[in-house]
Amino acid sequence: MTILSIEHLNKAFGGLQATNDVSLSLEQGELSAIIGPNGAGKSTLFNLITGYHRPDSGRVIFNGRDLIGLPPHEIVRLGIGRSFQRSNIFPRLTVFENVQTAVLSHYQQSGHLWRGTSRFGKLNEQVERILHSIGLWDKRARLGGKLALGDQKRLEMGLALALEPKLLLLDEPTAGMSSEETASTVALVKQISDEFKVTLLFTEHDMAVVFGIAQTIHVLYYGGIVASGKPQEIADNPEVQKIYLGEKDAKSRFRG
Ligand SMILES: Nc1ncnc2c1ncn2[C@@H]1O[C@H](COP(=O)(O)OP(=O)(O)OP(=O)(O)O)[C@@H](O)[C@H]1O
Ligand SMILES: [Mg+2]
Repeated sequence: MTILSIEHLNKAFGGLQATNDVSLSLEQGELSAIIGPNGAGKSTLFNLITGYHRPDSGRVIFNGRDLIGLPPHEIVRLGIGRSFQRSNIFPRLTVFENVQTAVLSHYQQSGHLWRGTSRFGKLNEQVERILHSIGLWDKRARLGGKLALGDQKRLEMGLALALEPKLLLLDEPTAGMSSEETASTVALVKQISDEFKVTLLFTEHDMAVVFGIAQTIHVLYYGGIVASGKPQEIADNPEVQKIYLGEKDAKSRFRG
């Protein structure tokens, strides 16, 4: 079943066509990646899906609903979560309080009510579950602002998961990380996809990461989709190879 379908999406900034007739669809539960060189339009596409930019033309249909024109918070409420390139964690709250705040705000927004059970007991159960999943249970008393980069990313994913998204967009989840941090973040992305049954779309410059975990890959180049398919199809695609896979070190090329 298709959960997100993007149809002929266009967005220009002045004379620059940042998104050029993009069409793609995501299947429910799928783990997919968008790749492409710096400036190809990956973040712009995320901003269009999540209501931070309004496209010049085209449609974004999520679970049968056209999202164009809806404000970002409404799109979150409908079930699309995202992590930001710049951190959105609360530096002066503990890890536990960070997740608790996100879960609480989600429960208030969605009007969750429990009868006969303790409201806060349920809430904290959910916080605990998320902290265990993202591997930060043992660090729950640390301040958000004192975490290492890899753990900050974990926490950001926890905050996104607290909103119980059906679709989660991760923009360069391993940016700036050491190879060790990258490996553990990638494992976490894969685990979240399996455990939370959430449809996941991420951008990433490290080809080893992309081809290691993505079930479907979309290639963007100058704002347009060059190819969409399974990793092997993408690796075999001559146009994609011409763009970068033919290069000795695609990773360094991609980091620009
Ligand atoms: N708000 C904006 N105003 C003007 N131009 C923009 C804006 N946002 C993005 N652009 C331009 O649109 C193009 C696509 O940018 P975008 O950030 O989407 O690329 P990207 O694929 O995410 O690149 P990177 O891999 O470096 O993150 C770039 O040329 C960028 O300079
Ligand atoms: Mg980007």
